[in-house]
Amino acid sequence: MTETSSIGTVVSDSECPTFERVRVKLKAGCDLKPGALVKIPTDRTDGGLLIGRVQGAHEWNPNEQPDAVGVRDTLNIPRNYPREEDSTTIYRVAEVELIEELIEGETRAPETLPNAGADVFAADVEEIVHSLGLAEPGSPCLMIGHTATGTKTEIRLKREIIQRHLFICGTTGSGKSYSMGVVAEELVDQGLPIVFIDTQDEYSAIVEKLGGQVLTPGKDFTLRISSLTEQEVLDLVPTDSDLHKNMIGIAYNELWDELKAKKRTRFLVADLVDRIRTIGPRVTNSTSSVDLAARRTAILERMDIFGDGEDRANWPKLMTPCLAIKCKHLTMNRLQTVATAVLRELQNLRLDGFIPPYVAVVDEAHLFVPDGDGSPCKQIIREGVRIGRHHGICMVLLTQSPVDIDKRAIRQCNTRMVFALEPDQLDAIRGVKADASEEMLRALPKMPRGTCVLSGTYESIKHAIPVRIRQRKHKESEGGKAPPIFEEMANKWLNPSRRI
Ligand SMILES: Nc1ncnc2c1ncn2[C@@H]1O[C@H](COP(=O)(O)OP(=O)(O)O)[C@@H](O)[C@H]1O
Ligand SMILES: [Mg+2]
Repeated sequence: MTETSSIGTVVSDSECPTFERVRVKLKAGCDLKPGALVKIPTDRTDGGLLIGRVQGAHEWNPNEQPDAVGVRDTLNIPRNYPREEDSTTIYRVAEVELIEELIEGETRAPETLPNAGADVFAADVEEIVHSLGLAEPGSPCLMIGHTATGTKTEIRLKREIIQRHLFICGTTGSGKSYSMGVVAEELVDQGLPIVFIDTQDEYSAIVEKLGGQVLTPGKDFTLRISSLTEQEVLDLVPTDSDLHKNMIGIAYNELWDELKAKKRTRFLVADLVDRIRTIGPRVTNSTSSVDLAARRTAILERMDIFGDGEDRANWPKLMTPCLAIKCKHLTMNRLQTVATAVLRELQNLRLDGFIPPYVAVVDEAHLFVPDGDGSPCKQIIREGVRIGRHHGICMVLLTQSPVDIDKRAIRQCNTRMVFALEPDQLDAIRGVKADASEEMLRALPKMPRGTCVLSGTYESIKHAIPVRIRQRKHKESEGGKAPPIFEEMANKWLNPSRRI
């Protein structure tokens, strides 16, 4: 690696340098952006390096103090002083937090006090790879983009990061789904099946380009109601009556006991409805209540997802290399039912060893794992992120509204991509910001499309860093675009005199 020239000098003031922080007087003409990584050689005999991350910078220029500017404006005299490169009084100081110490290729938390007067350099690619804990060159990885600041370095995440789940958030249009497509390209390259719960028809194009299928629930495949837990069935049946729930619960448990005792191989919605009618009179004298509980449960049959259970979907075949489950036109009730049933059945099959490891992608995840009030799907997603790591179930949760999502679920997603966010959403991600600085968070509302703060934990990405997500390899693979309504009006609905 060629030795680059120094970009600044560690200065001493009443607060810095410390073990955690240094201030760097920049050389004139040297620019440092927030998030860039720099290195500071120490005077250790083994040639250690401290790696720091730029937080912010400040320029000192006595000629531009308000009174000096005021005098110039009032007297109408031109600016007349040497520029930074020739000045003895103008300078810029960058605030740098120390994040790693590199000694003979090994990394550790910084332990050496930096010397005031030490030269500061831009960190090179190898140092950045080591400091962030990225995949070693040549090892299998997920290449998602490059550093957005400092020395341009490809972000090659270790592929195992997906086992500890991924959380992607950002305002609408910030680049979440696009980057999920990038991640999908990488995962398919690594041979890991992906199942998208595709609420906005955003993934069908990329899935088809990746050689996968797009399936409509109820039409192309069905699931078994016996896959669901008792609570899930109770949550999905549209009733608030405790009496109804009681009857449904008893009926469900009887059928389950028969399954366990191998007296039956499956049960269907119709079996559940029949059983409610059988056991109902034991619970209540009100025949209308029994009838209502049965009819409410029968509604599940119309949810386009539960089948007769004869032909089980061949999941290993359907999900490889990837699969989009088309949920765009489903009502909220149906959407919840489909997502719960798909995720529950896949998890059951995986725990029983019938299907390969997989990645489940849930866009608009705040609808499925909301903060506070439950949703039928909340339990299975929480279980996915909690136990998935041990069973090869990898979850990806995406949301434009981190305020509305269950914080426990997102804390268990160990890699996070935070795109541009509205200021009122910033507080919600504090729990998962890892070591992203306040400056990084404050910069989020202005983050350009396709750029995110990537953060994580020791096993995924050791330090938060701004990342520019790469372009997809598959062109024209984006979906979910808003329809051109004005063109449609002009071409279809308005006659030339502009009246319908
Ligand atoms: N990394 C990127 N490279 C190129 N274009 C991008 C990138 N990220 C986003 N875009 C563009 O921005 C649009 C909106 O991104 P999208 O991922 O659909 O937003 P979101 O899912 O956050 O609402 C995409 O259709 C794409 O054209
Ligand atoms: Mg999207």
